[in-house]
Amino acid sequence: MTLPFLPTFPILLAPMAGVTDLPYRALCRELGCDFTYTEMISAKGLYYGGAGSAALLQTSPLERPCGVQLFGREPALMAQMARHICERYAGELAVIDINMGCPAPKITGNGEGSALMLEPALAGRIVAAVAKASALPVTVKFRKGYDGARGNAVEFAKVAQDSGAAMVAVHGRTREQMYQGKADWDVIAAVKQAVHIPVIGNGDVFTGADAVRMRAHTGCDGIMVARGAQGNPFIFKEIKAALAGEAYAPPTGRERIDMAMEHLARMAAWKGERAAVEMRKHLAWYVKGLRGAAALRVRVNQATDVAALKGLLEEYRDAIPVP
Ligand SMILES: Cc1cc2nc3c(=O)[nH]c(=O)nc-3n(C[C@H](O)[C@H](O)[C@H](O)COP(=O)(O)O)c2cc1C
Repeated sequence: MTLPFLPTFPILLAPMAGVTDLPYRALCRELGCDFTYTEMISAKGLYYGGAGSAALLQTSPLERPCGVQLFGREPALMAQMARHICERYAGELAVIDINMGCPAPKITGNGEGSALMLEPALAGRIVAAVAKASALPVTVKFRKGYDGARGNAVEFAKVAQDSGAAMVAVHGRTREQMYQGKADWDVIAAVKQAVHIPVIGNGDVFTGADAVRMRAHTGCDGIMVARGAQGNPFIFKEIKAALAGEAYAPPTGRERIDMAMEHLARMAAWKGERAAVEMRKHLAWYVKGLRGAAALRVRVNQATDVAALKGLLEEYRDAIPVP
């Protein structure tokens, strides 16, 4: 059973800092994704009025209500920011998610993100404080553990649940693994067995078939997709089809470029000329595996304005033979 604003077996777009921007999240929703989150936002950055942190709180009407993801290690500050967000963005959001899985040294170095897996008691106090302050359900995203020796996801999930979390998402890798190796789905299954709140499985879902296997292997209540969605918002359609046992026709090269152009247009409407730079990484993902992609990437990275980028994509698309 999942939360009331989610369907029975939701497919969620994972938060990805620097990737899951507002236009992209909306595109994913249109292609079957059931729920989106903002990129992770520093509670401290928000408190000190950082423009970057506040900008990350913008959401699209096409994705609302969605989740906001906060990170930090001070229960009182996290609670204060959660209360502020609930008041200021009432009606736009459905959950406050707490990041306890980020492995980046600049985050763990401050004892935040996945470093909190080393301090379950403090993590519990953070969840409890945020749950008390927040008018919205609080969810927690974490990993298998901090390192090989400390795979404490099951205990950690129980702490989150007992502290008031309404749902958890578990990435089956340790902090030590970063994004290397294979995600351990057994640990997701173990967490599912250990708690009564919904458990969302995360890690290594790149196809519809992967989603079917993860559901069967873990008994999870929903699936969260991160890297599999980079340049591939179509994956949500693919997963939905696979879970329903329906056929799925992957997008043609032209359809992929059309989607990239739609993303570019929405990014430009949102960020103006800054979109030319913001879109570079996305475009590299959209064209991955297509003929001449490497040469196109070079030209994309040299383009300095949106019109030039659009022209490049149009030219490239029109040269793709119609099947
Ligand atoms: C570029 C990038 C940025 C990420 N940023 C976040 C983030 O802001 N918050 C978070 O909880 N996880 C973040 N993650 C982790 C993903 O949400 C996810 O847990 C992880 O990639 C495993 O899922 P996957 O195998 O489907 O990629 C990020 C991952 C990547 C690759």
